[in-house]
Amino acid sequence: MMAAQLESDTRRVPRHIAIIMDGNGRWAKQRSLPRVAGHRKGADAVRTCVTAAIEAGVQYLTLYAFSSENWNRPADEVTDLMNLLRHYLRREVAELNSKNVRLHFIGKRDRLAPDTLKLMESAEELTKDNTRLHMCIALNYGSQCEIVEAARALASAVKNGDLAPEDITHAHVADNLLTAHIPDPDLIIRTSGEQRLSNFLLWQAAYAELVFLDVLWPDFDACALGKAIDEFQQRERRYGGR
Ligand code: IPE
Ligand code: IPE
Ligand code: MG
Repeated sequence: MMAAQLESDTRRVPRHIAIIMDGNGRWAKQRSLPRVAGHRKGADAVRTCVTAAIEAGVQYLTLYAFSSENWNRPADEVTDLMNLLRHYLRREVAELNSKNVRLHFIGKRDRLAPDTLKLMESAEELTKDNTRLHMCIALNYGSQCEIVEAARALASAVKNGDLAPEDITHAHVADNLLTAHIPDPDLIIRTSGEQRLSNFLLWQAAYAELVFLDVLWPDFDACALGKAIDEFQQRERRYGGR
């Protein structure tokens, strides 16, 4: 590849990629396996994805792991997913740390088991100064709930006399979201062929490019990430201008 072309491609690598990791159940079903087998393979795909994102030069990677609506699944599947998360953290955090990855979580922490919370907090603490990739796991996350909480915080500030309603700006809302410290996603990928956001980063997605891949999440690899980045690079982002 010509140096100039390489340089322009590098410049257009999305700074922040967010992924709706969907299709674990269908992957298992195609193989007549229990759904948990799909979730297990999905956890392996996370590792592949992180490595590929680092290679591609992505700075922020947000992964939708468990939505606030996923509690509506049968109890045994919820248990399987939570067990897998614990297993993933026990197995992967040291390696993520050695790769200079910063790990942090967004979502409500109220319904999670104490030992899970402890693993999450110690992973965040261990990796907090890492700079190669900022990896954000959305766990028990729901965007509408996040926006409601921001509205509550701003309403309290108004009630206390610290803020006038007419002074509320976009920045006040953004600063009260769980993503206050990270830039909005440039690219949102959803695997499995579904084309919806399922309560993921609704405010933050305002000008994200959306790419829907047919690949099921357990089959996601560097090639699939490359395909999504290629598609992103074909898009013209206008932000309402011309
Ligand atoms: C994504 O795969 C994993 C989670 C939502 C936790 P699914 O479990 O939603 O897989 P499908 O959509 O049933 O194939
Ligand atoms: C979205 O997938 C949530 C995650 C990937 C964690 P779902 O499979 O839960 O979404 P719906 O129910 O198809 O919208
Ligand atoms: Mg699904």
